[in-house]
Amino acid sequence: MEGGWREVLAMLLVLAGLAAPGSGYQIIEGPHNATVLQGSEARFNCTVSPGWKLIMWALQGTVVLSVTPREPIITSDRFTSQSYEDAGGNFISEMIIHDAQPGDSGWVRCSLQNSDREGLAFLAVQVMGALYIPNDSIVVTEDEPCTVTCRALGWSPLPNISWEVAVPVSQSSYYSFLEPGEPRSTVSVLALTPQGNGTLTCVANLRSVQAHKAVAVNLTVVPSPSDSMEKSGASLPTWAIALLAVLCASVFILIVVLIIVFCCCCSSRRKKKESVYQIKIRNSEKDNTKKGTSETKLKNENENYAFSSDEPRTTQMVPLPPKSREALAQGQPSSSPAPQEPRKQQPAPASRPQVSFNIASPQKVRSATLV
Ligand SMILES: *[C@@H]1O[C@H](CO)[C@@H](O)[C@H](O)[C@H]1NC(C)=O
Ligand SMILES: *[C@@H]1O[C@H](CO)[C@@H](O)[C@H](O)[C@H]1NC(C)=O
Ligand SMILES: *[C@@H]1O[C@H](CO)[C@@H](O)[C@H](O)[C@H]1NC(C)=O
Ligand SMILES: *[C@@H]1O[C@H](CO)[C@@H](O)[C@H](O)[C@H]1NC(C)=O
Ligand SMILES: *[C@@H]1O[C@H](CO)[C@@H](O)[C@H](O)[C@H]1NC(C)=O
Ligand SMILES: *[C@@H]1O[C@H](CO)[C@@H](O)[C@H](O)[C@H]1NC(C)=O
Repeated sequence: MEGGWREVLAMLLVLAGLAAPGSGYQIIEGPHNATVLQGSEARFNCTVSPGWKLIMWALQGTVVLSVTPREPIITSDRFTSQSYEDAGGNFISEMIIHDAQPGDSGWVRCSLQNSDREGLAFLAVQVMGALYIPNDSIVVTEDEPCTVTCRALGWSPLPNISWEVAVPVSQSSYYSFLEPGEPRSTVSVLALTPQGNGTLTCVANLRSVQAHKAVAVNLTVVPSPSDSMEKSGASLPTWAIALLAVLCASVFILIVVLIIVFCCCCSSRRKKKESVYQIKIRNSEKDNTKKGTSETKLKNENENYAFSSDEPRTTQMVPLPPKSREALAQGQPSSSPAPQEPRKQQPAPASRPQVSFNIASPQKVRSATLV
């Protein structure tokens, strides 16, 4: 009933004001845009020059508060007013909207009776929705990447979500995305590789009203048995690998050294053998000289043997097949050393008799062809 009376009174006053003749008073400064959080107060000032009869405050086109020089006419407890006077003697009417709701968002108008001028401002009421981390407690494995999700539901506008990571980590990052089908919610995903226990705090921030909401979750890190095994296994391999590398390298070097030594031994043995041949050859030489055969020929041959048995020239005499020998013996009886040759040349490598024969000195070839 009181509200109804008030409204009727306000209407009467408005009508009276409109009926009264206009004067010079006007709005000096209108209200300013305001952004407030749901449930808080929104305040607007309207400065008018002296002589005014009635100030009307309208929200979304509806007059919610009227102010007369004597008193404000309050139609709802949600809309109250305060009065001030500035240095210049102007009157300042302040409208206070209590418990602002998203539905209050809209234009706020301050107007005077009998005046074209009006002050306009926009009221934006923002909503802090719910913020939660679905996992009450998070138990993760040490040094293993994991993700923690934070969901903001029913916010208007959508908040800016950030994370406070009070956990020793080797890496952490986060990103947000809009939940499909949920126009007023957003999801932030924190990816981290934890290295110890701690607390993760998800903070949703509405910058324009400097409001934020936070939710925290305790993170418990457990070193998994496989992890510890891996750890010991991982620490061992580093040593083992180094050791193995050194061992392999040393073994390789050892093998190379052994091969070199072996080769040296072989060559020295060959030389020894060759020297044995030399001695043998010399003995035979002596025999030959005793027998009084052609020394020069033999000497040349023997010397060749002594130097290197592998060279074709030296082996040229080796491969002489029995036929040629016979031929030599038959066709050239003067060359008596022929029968002794096979004996000397037995130890010599018989691997390439044919080749050496081909490269045989012209003398031998001739003798061979003679047959
Ligand atoms: C309105 O004006 C008064 C007096 O100058 C001041 O104290 C108050 O903060 C102002 N309110 C707004 C919303 O600007
Ligand atoms: C007040 O808000 C309205 C609507 O958002 C905007 O168009 C206008 O520019 C704002 N005025 C000021 C002074 O910020
Ligand atoms: C969080 O909970 C969901 C389901 O409740 C589960 O699939 C996920 O693995 C949990 N995340 C962590 C890090 O514990
Ligand atoms: C969100 O907040 C962070 C830090 O407070 C800031 O760096 C970033 O620019 C903000 N993002 C948006 C879209 O406001
Ligand atoms: C984390 O806390 C749990 C119990 O609170 C404890 O068993 C574990 O050793 C802790 N981990 C580290 C890395 O401190
Ligand atoms: C996290 O741990 C602290 C003490 O370590 C405790 O006071 C707090 O309640 C825990 N929070 C949650 C969400 O479990």
